[in-house]
Amino acid sequence: MTDYSYRISRLQLELCSDGIDGALLAGTDQMLYLTGWKEGGAERFVGLFVPAEGEPIFLVPAMNAEQARGTPAAIQNVVGWDDADGWISPARGILCSWEAQRRILVDDELRSVHLIALQSLLPQTQFVPAGEIMCRLRERKTPDELRAMTCAANLIDEVFEEVVTQLVEGMTELELADLVLGAIRARGSTPSFTPLICFGPNAALPHHHTGVKALARGDIVIIDIGCTAESYASDITRTVSFGEPSDPDAAGIYDLVLTAHLAALSAVRPGATGEAVDAAARSVISEAGYGDQFLHRTGHGIGLSVHEPPNIVRGNTAPLTEGMCFSVEPGVYLTGRFGVRIENIVTVTATGGRSLNAEPGQTLRIVSAV
Ligand code: CO
Ligand code: CO
Repeated sequence: MTDYSYRISRLQLELCSDGIDGALLAGTDQMLYLTGWKEGGAERFVGLFVPAEGEPIFLVPAMNAEQARGTPAAIQNVVGWDDADGWISPARGILCSWEAQRRILVDDELRSVHLIALQSLLPQTQFVPAGEIMCRLRERKTPDELRAMTCAANLIDEVFEEVVTQLVEGMTELELADLVLGAIRARGSTPSFTPLICFGPNAALPHHHTGVKALARGDIVIIDIGCTAESYASDITRTVSFGEPSDPDAAGIYDLVLTAHLAALSAVRPGATGEAVDAAARSVISEAGYGDQFLHRTGHGIGLSVHEPPNIVRGNTAPLTEGMCFSVEPGVYLTGRFGVRIENIVTVTATGGRSLNAEPGQTLRIVSAV
């Protein structure tokens, strides 16, 4: 059982030590982390007010009040606001009950219209983005969180093995995405993001929008998929060839990206920086002359959110510590031809890095085209 009151008290300690009077979290993964529940609310205001000292208060649309009362965090103070009367007046009441309103932490993903309304309500208050403090709470995973992450990792490895045998000439990217979603649901899980499926030249676009391209013999196929276990996310990318690759460079680029992936993995250890892990992958690809075709950071943190700190990127000089989890996903993208990306989730152990996922193929896997 997750101890949500412990999580909230850790946040309050951080607020006190940073001289911040309270925090306002929106219906995001920050709220999920602190209470075991989140409700986006769309345009409606959803907030969890956590004073530096004292009891947290939910302010939610009246129609969500019952759910807010029933969260695993068992927060006693729930205020439901009415569509006709709006949320501003109860929000004013909550904030004015705080001892001071000099500095308030605010969820990075709070809607700007809501923040602007709060800023005009409290013109003297400084609103501080919550990302940095929430990152301090969330980036090192507990053994329970690691178990959930490992479970999600195992599930998505199984899903990949199931769907990769179902590639058929002429199927579309969207049809393969549907197979992925079915395989995830069949395991009682949910997708952690929309499957990203790329056939042929589309594989040269790191964030291609899965579409209607039909699978042809010789196409490189990128499958970037994830699912959840107890709300914790997985995220893997596998690159295979449907039949013998039509591009003569595909197998060589695969070997290069795998070498970069393994170099990054072996650079992971407590005390190493995100920047150093990124450099380990990037130097392999740059030395082979493809540095300009590696279009993104080497990885991103992962947990309740698919993307969260720490980033594995140049400029991140903070030391990695035991329990952190992040992707290692170097890629090379050759416009108009194909791309290769290999992604596993890695956790920092006491002595190095350990992949939560199965090892990627040691060479470009040829899936027989029938
Ligand atoms: Co991914
Ligand atoms: Co990723």
